[in-house]
Amino acid sequence: MTLTDDLRAAVGERHVLSDPELRAPYETDWSGRFHGEAALVVRPGTTDEVAAVLAACRRAGAPVVPQGGNTGLVGGGVPRGGEVVLSLGRLDDVGVPDLATAQVELGAGATLGALQAAARAAGLDAAMDFGARDSATLGGIVACDSGGVRALRHGTARARVAGLEAVLGDGTVVRRMSGLLKDNAGLNLPALLVGSEGTLGVVTRVRWRLAAPPRRRVAVLVALDSLDEVVGLVGRLRTEVPSLEAVELLLPEGIAFTCEYLGVPSPVRDAAAYVLAEAVGAQDPTEELAAVVPDDALLADDTATRERLWRLRETLTEAIAAAGIPHKFDVGVPIARLAEFLERVPPAVEAAAPGSRTFQFGHLGDGNVHVNVLGPEPGDEAADEAVLRLAAEVGGTISAEHGVGVAKARWLHLIRSDAEIAAMRSIKRALDPDGVLNPGVMLPGTASPAASA
Ligand code: MLT
Ligand code: ZN
Repeated sequence: MTLTDDLRAAVGERHVLSDPELRAPYETDWSGRFHGEAALVVRPGTTDEVAAVLAACRRAGAPVVPQGGNTGLVGGGVPRGGEVVLSLGRLDDVGVPDLATAQVELGAGATLGALQAAARAAGLDAAMDFGARDSATLGGIVACDSGGVRALRHGTARARVAGLEAVLGDGTVVRRMSGLLKDNAGLNLPALLVGSEGTLGVVTRVRWRLAAPPRRRVAVLVALDSLDEVVGLVGRLRTEVPSLEAVELLLPEGIAFTCEYLGVPSPVRDAAAYVLAEAVGAQDPTEELAAVVPDDALLADDTATRERLWRLRETLTEAIAAAGIPHKFDVGVPIARLAEFLERVPPAVEAAAPGSRTFQFGHLGDGNVHVNVLGPEPGDEAADEAVLRLAAEVGGTISAEHGVGVAKARWLHLIRSDAEIAAMRSIKRALDPDGVLNPGVMLPGTASPAASA
């Protein structure tokens, strides 16, 4: 039996895609920077089918790239060339939230938007949000330990995972779905899988921790005249606004770019930087927010104005992508050195990739800065080197929420010691002994074995 026959037997003929046109949507990432041809695309519909697919691939020595909604930005969810893409999209069931625990079970292919709708219908809050909500899936969110705009209050995916089911690289299925808040019996395998980027196992089901819904949401857009003022405001918001949920950063070129893309006038005065913050609570948080922001801040306590402010932030990613294929970074920087980092990035990028266009924005409250660079060819890594080295130099991380993927694997050593990387390799060998799961992702030098369909 060939691998193709084996996979057809596992998931049914119509869920094994070999036609190049049918494979194409699975082969290029959202940004357009990362692309590779897949040997095949396989779409299992159950956990048992995922296990059967992995068993077949191990027998054939065929490397596997797990893929959710294909919204990843570090090349970790698309083939590099010749792998089998394991699409989790059909595992998209969404359970009914359990009110006593405020938890819900979902298949790995359910989108964040579907989770949010289920939470809302039950009178709860999903406790996570970001722009790609209608495409990004729970399996990918957990595998990459995604964060988004509300991680400041609710934590990243790691803090929301109450249980997990996964098929490990060695073919065994691990399942811990009891949702017990306290359960410290033995090593926490689900915790190991969160953020493992599909290199240790394939997440098939998730038990997600929801939150009580806020009754009131108030956003504010603040124009500030220096980056030092930005850092000062973050401190005041954090310490004086207990109901704070999000603090985002925009710079003038980003606001201008988005406004031009949307065809709307800028709602704020010229300034060095802008902070978009949101507070939520059972009571109206307007007074708390108003007490810490300057008088000319734009307060939005009605849904339409709030959404208009958030659109400025969320559309920036789309506006940049419409202008070219960006190099995207999601570095994390200690807040104390944030102003220095933001000032040093543009000249560093200009020196590495002359003539390119740099945008900086992101999740200010988490120190998570998105640097997007337009101009360099997809394979030109000079700007990558400059930005990631700078993040490491100021005591930050090369990856705050998108993951390491293939995009940043060769810079992992900047922020992780040899001992840590060696421990990661040992765990990888133990859980994926044949090295079939997402080779080349996260750990440098884990090359793909050759697949033959
Ligand atoms: C965002 O916060 O907008 C996303 O992480 C995507 C991006 O980096 O553009
Ligand atoms: Zn982000």
